Amino acid sequence: MIANRPKALLTALDSWYRRHARNLPWRVGPGARDKGKKPDPYLVWLSEVMLQQTTIPHAAPYFLAFKARWPKVKDLAAASWEDVSAAWAGLGYYSRARNLHVCAKLVSERGGFPQDAEGLRELPGVGPYTAAAIAAIAFDEKVAPVDGNIERVMSRVRAVGSDGTEAGWRRAKIEIGARTQELFDALPETQRAGDLAQALMDLGATVCTPKKPNCLICPLAKMCAARAEGDPERYPVKAAKKERPVRYGSAFVAVRGSEVLLVRRPASGLLGGMMMPPGSEWRETKPKDALKGAPLKLTWAHVGEVRHAFTHFALKLDVYRAEAPAQAKVAGEWMPAKDALAALPTVGRKAVLLAVGGHAGVTARRLVS
Ligand code: ADE
Repeated sequence: MIANRPKALLTALDSWYRRHARNLPWRVGPGARDKGKKPDPYLVWLSEVMLQQTTIPHAAPYFLAFKARWPKVKDLAAASWEDVSAAWAGLGYYSRARNLHVCAKLVSERGGFPQDAEGLRELPGVGPYTAAAIAAIAFDEKVAPVDGNIERVMSRVRAVGSDGTEAGWRRAKIEIGARTQELFDALPETQRAGDLAQALMDLGATVCTPKKPNCLICPLAKMCAARAEGDPERYPVKAAKKERPVRYGSAFVAVRGSEVLLVRRPASGLLGGMMMPPGSEWRETKPKDALKGAPLKLTWAHVGEVRHAFTHFALKLDVYRAEAPAQAKVAGEWMPAKDALAALPTVGRKAVLLAVGGHAGVTARRLVS
């Protein structure tokens, strides 16, 4: 039986993080923090919102681009939605880009970010996890942000299992949260909450990995209850994933020379406010006569299907292509295909690439370069 000694864990994590903290573009490392450098709440917030939905390697170039273009929250607040949504394209979940923009305006008006998790939670697009992450990392508040990495580390260190049912896993998550908060509550004055949060995140990402955790180099190995049991990989015991339901739809890519026709989606709903090729609604059954929903009377050719996984469903999108005459009068915006590919959300980019790749003398490679 392993004793519940938060102090020993905290000391081990602190010295490990000092040697192994990852160098991330939004991070102020422990050495720089010792010298008095403070994290910028705007950059912490920006990184956390981007990381809500994607991996560090995917988010990092977006983070750097946003930071270079909009170095302060007031700059992002003053940007147009068109510019923000185009810069966000490819990061997915466009309601987050909208919330990001609204939030920047709000924070800019109030003269800065709220400085604790409770206040941060009031901001659009900032849920309990993100509020805790920003509060801990930017302001060293002793609140536990339990992301997937921290969840795994703490479920193992404290051997918090479950019976694998939805209800059991819900209970386990509450327990894991409480065990993590215990660590933050036990932080001595000499240790920073932001370092603890990021140490746990890094440990989960690089050592205490989902498969084949590298216990031999883990600073917590001697204190880890799951390791003492003999099979740390068994944790966390999550509920079995439900299958994602499938939805079907059509996208109509009208091509005029090197341009494609795009429309802006309504502000609310999935991909709200983003540009997309015109298309049908997405439904649970495949439409019988998809061409009825085509935006123009053109000769549409079916060019294939693209698939895209959203959080709550998998989309199968039939893609149609047609050449439009130069004088075609349509609602929407003709955009050079090259620019469209940069501005479209991923599912739209897949559809346009499928429709125009190799056509009109424009190869997919040339379009994306
Ligand atoms: N995941 C989310 N936020 C992170 C951070 N600040 N460091 C490492 N991984 C993260």
